[in-house]
Amino acid sequence: MNDLLKVESATTLSELEAIRIELLGKKGHFATQFARMKDLDKADRPAFAAELNEAKAAAERAIAAKKEALQKAQIAARIEAEQMDVSLLSTVGTSGAIHPVNRAMEEIVEYFLGMNYELKTGPLIEDEFHNFEALNLPAHHPAREMQDTFYMNDHKLLRTHTSPVQIRTMMTQKPPLRMIAPGAVFRRDYDLTHTPMFHQIEGLVVDAADRVSFANLKHILSDFLKAFFGDFPVRFRPSFFPFTEPSAEVDIGCIFCEGKGCRVCKQTGWLEVLGCGMVDPNVFKAVGYENVSGYAFGLGIERLATLKYRIGDLRAMYEGDLDLLEQFA
Ligand code: DAH
Repeated sequence: MNDLLKVESATTLSELEAIRIELLGKKGHFATQFARMKDLDKADRPAFAAELNEAKAAAERAIAAKKEALQKAQIAARIEAEQMDVSLLSTVGTSGAIHPVNRAMEEIVEYFLGMNYELKTGPLIEDEFHNFEALNLPAHHPAREMQDTFYMNDHKLLRTHTSPVQIRTMMTQKPPLRMIAPGAVFRRDYDLTHTPMFHQIEGLVVDAADRVSFANLKHILSDFLKAFFGDFPVRFRPSFFPFTEPSAEVDIGCIFCEGKGCRVCKQTGWLEVLGCGMVDPNVFKAVGYENVSGYAFGLGIERLATLKYRIGDLRAMYEGDLDLLEQFA
């Protein structure tokens, strides 16, 4: 093949390099040709050399030109291959989300902090005095059986509600007092609407006897429920808790059927959302408070969260169910 055609035929830089060696290398085509010169007549040598030099120079130029062309093509191919369209939709990994329980808890806490309540916490492992006795639940009180308690050694137990934080706060602080206490609580229960661990928020306000009334309690809870759920009717229903007198349970008009009656509200048109009342005098006696009045309330965070976010099965919250959790991303 003609030298120049050969150079042209190279499709890659390594092919071209092989051709260069074949033509211009120490034992290559031109070296061999020059070696033949000594066999020629002296007179013929200059013409032969001139022609050969010209051919060699042409081959060198062709190789250099081809090399540049191949390098350019290589860069172009690479740019083409590595090209990306930054406007394409991406599928980057999903980020985490706040768990619905934490989300509801944060929202509730924020509301009450905004109303000047102080944030309090207490131990998860409690004793019978703080969890029961001081809350007017003496040893053989039937209400103590309402709560299926996890007992430990030495009369220790896992707190069954956040109400003991009321007791701990009153025993270490003088009135007036406005507090909320969010946290985990434990009961031996497991079904569609109960898990052995769940969360409550306790609220307590204590002040001089003429400064705290049931009307205040009614107002703050109605206002809170409207802020949390939206504009649904709220009603206070007489009830019983050992630590409050009078006591009430609070219902909101069913947010699913708007009061018409459905499966979730068991056809009543109402959803029970929290318990509350005026602090029982026996509770004040247990902590040594005198001449005061107060109200208290307790609400279940999972209960409020499942309603607000319309989650059918409470247990799904604690099964790491991604289908559920990703909706909160
Ligand atoms: N401790 C109650 C429970 O676990 C909830 C509760 C009801 C708390 C009424 C209160 C209250 O402070 O006044 O079911």
